[in-house]
Amino acid sequence: MSPNPMPPEKTSHILVLGMGGTIAGLASNPGKDPLSYKAGELGIEALLEKIQEDIPGELKLVSRQVANINSRNLTEPLLSLLGQTVMESLANTMVRGIVITHGTDTMEETGVFLQLTCGKYAQNLGKRIIITGAMLPANAPEADGPSNLLDAIRWASTPLDNCPGGVYGVMAGRACLAMDLSKRHATALNAPLQASPSSSAGLINPSWLFGVKAVQGAWSEDLPIPKGEEWPWVEILTSHAGSRPETIARWFGGGVEGLVLAGSGIGGFHDAWLTPLGEAAKQGIALVRTSRTGGGLTYPDIPEKDLAGCMASGSLSAPRARIALQLAINAAKQANLVGKSLTWQDFFARIAVLPLIG
Ligand code: SIN
Repeated sequence: MSPNPMPPEKTSHILVLGMGGTIAGLASNPGKDPLSYKAGELGIEALLEKIQEDIPGELKLVSRQVANINSRNLTEPLLSLLGQTVMESLANTMVRGIVITHGTDTMEETGVFLQLTCGKYAQNLGKRIIITGAMLPANAPEADGPSNLLDAIRWASTPLDNCPGGVYGVMAGRACLAMDLSKRHATALNAPLQASPSSSAGLINPSWLFGVKAVQGAWSEDLPIPKGEEWPWVEILTSHAGSRPETIARWFGGGVEGLVLAGSGIGGFHDAWLTPLGEAAKQGIALVRTSRTGGGLTYPDIPEKDLAGCMASGSLSAPRARIALQLAINAAKQANLVGKSLTWQDFFARIAVLPLIG
């Protein structure tokens, strides 16, 4: 599967990949009700046309439509396609940087996916991948998409002095590491940058980047991109008042390979889950513990000693921990195939245990 193959571009350029989202959305009555709209209606070319006169003449842009969806419908094979497209494009010496227009609902997942699979390669090449989107559809009177897209293109194409290559998110005049994107507000214009536990989002200005090199220094290698159907099945379960043992037990024997437990507070879960989680671990189901609060860190053995084999998620929110666990399970399988005896925990530890900056 390959998005619109294009003849090779022979000049240095910024590649803009369209994934859909509200930035490409249209409202039927934008003046009266801009929040009633359909995402993924306009193609990437049409979005670029809206900002054409603000693009410096010497800056060459090339666009490709990878998908045009509402990102709540994002699939794992589509993530694989995006990852492969990004890897191939990074390898192209004519590509200076990459901008991705994406729905904000699951930018969190795509951000961490790209960081974990392409981040080191981008960093080594000194190229930036910038994810952006919008909270208002393209035809809303106050549409935020054009300025976000322009910021992303500028950020992808500015010299590297203060900002290393890597994967970033840009919205509403602010930026963060893509692995810190997390939509924690339904409507705010900077919704995907609402909670950034391992580094604070900052104005698009290199001053916030003081901690980026520390995080990137901890990144030793990219994890393999699972092929479309190779993605392990991992679910997120939330602990809450009245949690039942059956919530865990009903996944036994059905093909689930991992569970991310979104615990309360500091990542503890309901005692009703203890016995079935012990059984899950015995059955080889990978267990990761995180916090449903949406902020802060989840530490190993706090508030109680972890069940054998269960890992704390560090700064990873539940959606991010889920992608990280899927990639870690897949990486362990690939390593085992070539005779390396590594476990998913070996890979997950490299992701979850990062230096604290802020
Ligand atoms: C989507 O995620 O595709 C819709 C919502 C948005 O982009 O803000």
